[in-house]
Amino acid sequence: MSDKIKIIGGKQLKGEVKISGAKNAVLKLMAAALLAKGETKIYNVPELTDVTIMLNVIEQLGVKTSYDKQEKSITINADNITNIRASYELVSRMRASFIILGALVGRCKEAIVAMPGGCAIGERKVDFHIKGLESLGTSIKIENGYVHAKAKKLIGSDIYLDIPSVGATENIMLAAVLAEGSTRIQNAAQEPEILDLANFLNAMGAEIIGAGTSEIVINGVKQENLKSIEYTTIPDRIEAGTYMAAFIATKGKGIIRNIFPNHLTFYTSKLTKMGADIKLIEPTTLEVSCKRRLEAVNIITQPYPGFPTDLQSMAMALATTADGVSIITESLYENRFMQVPELRKMGADIHQERNHALIKGVKSLTGANLKASDLRAGASLVIAALIAEGESLIDNIFHIDRGYELLESKFRMIGADIVRISENDNSVINQDKGSLSESQL
Ligand code: EPU
Repeated sequence: MSDKIKIIGGKQLKGEVKISGAKNAVLKLMAAALLAKGETKIYNVPELTDVTIMLNVIEQLGVKTSYDKQEKSITINADNITNIRASYELVSRMRASFIILGALVGRCKEAIVAMPGGCAIGERKVDFHIKGLESLGTSIKIENGYVHAKAKKLIGSDIYLDIPSVGATENIMLAAVLAEGSTRIQNAAQEPEILDLANFLNAMGAEIIGAGTSEIVINGVKQENLKSIEYTTIPDRIEAGTYMAAFIATKGKGIIRNIFPNHLTFYTSKLTKMGADIKLIEPTTLEVSCKRRLEAVNIITQPYPGFPTDLQSMAMALATTADGVSIITESLYENRFMQVPELRKMGADIHQERNHALIKGVKSLTGANLKASDLRAGASLVIAALIAEGESLIDNIFHIDRGYELLESKFRMIGADIVRISENDNSVINQDKGSLSESQL
């Protein structure tokens, strides 16, 4: 059982949305805070289930944390780490918590972290994370579903990644900060979240050069050179891309604030090609509108700076009613088209073969009973429901709650007819679900 979202489609969205801090950045900053003794404070933290799970993982290590709802900040005091084990119960709830491995190996030279396993969107192996840590001198055993990593000392090394994996780049960076000598990561991931992590670590006293490019050099420093800091997380580019799609899909007009437009260059160029108007009106503010029927588009997802896989499903929702045939190829994950059968229920004409989807634009979609299968597939159903005629009911929205802060409030503020329906008694819940309540910490 899960809460549901009810949307009555057909409303043109208008108004302003403020983008929250980036989930995929803040989770890694929280792990990085473990490298320095003292109290680190992170601002612009979104109130999301995933952040709660990461706080739980960190508390399990004996580290004190607190969350200030008003200030949207978290404080992590990593003076003492009394436990080096991250349990299966927590890691299996959120695979991103595997990032704790690099931080613990760096700080404590030992870690026992549950293997995250695959998830709905793909196999999502961690072999590059493990090989990378081994190159730094860590011996790794996998026993009873846990990775046990241990090193007498970490020694910098040259590491080439077969795929520019975001998580592997981050885990290696975290461990290499306190290694002896230099580590060079080649074919490193270039996502903005990697640069944010490097900026955070450098502010702490680390020496990282080249983050945001395909070659990152980390010159190891001593533990006593690292200090606790205060830091503000970058905006969430995927949340921003989702609201851009929502304004465009409904032929509306909106202002998106707290966005770093250069993080979305590829996405913006595709939306413009489809017929959207996107204007930079201030350095961190975009105006997005669309007056006509969208045109079909061809998209191949790629690691950054290519088209983001996390926005593939949003582009597909737009393509369902575009003029012509769109082809979308998903090249990062094996199983990231789970929105397809749900969109078909709404009248979309989609033919899928392996990782290619051929979408013949139809004139309109109709509301239906839908199920979110994962975070981004779920968000694309929200976009589709906003343009559909009539009512849609989206089930399993706990997936969407993982990555979208204040979803219903933000959509209601721009004119959407959207409510959350309680799993318990089918009543309408007027407030957004907060996820960082004290009781959950
Ligand atoms: N891969 C391997 N071996 C590895 C690591 C990765 O084969 O050791 C493969 C994966 O199976 C996948 C591909 O490489 O097919 C890319 O994986 P990557 O490691 O780059 O992704 P990630 O770190 O697990 C992060 C985001 C994802 C986002 C990807 C790609 C976080 C918490 N997650 O995942 O975000 O899709 O990068 O940009 O940062 C989301 O927010 O919905 C989400 C899934």
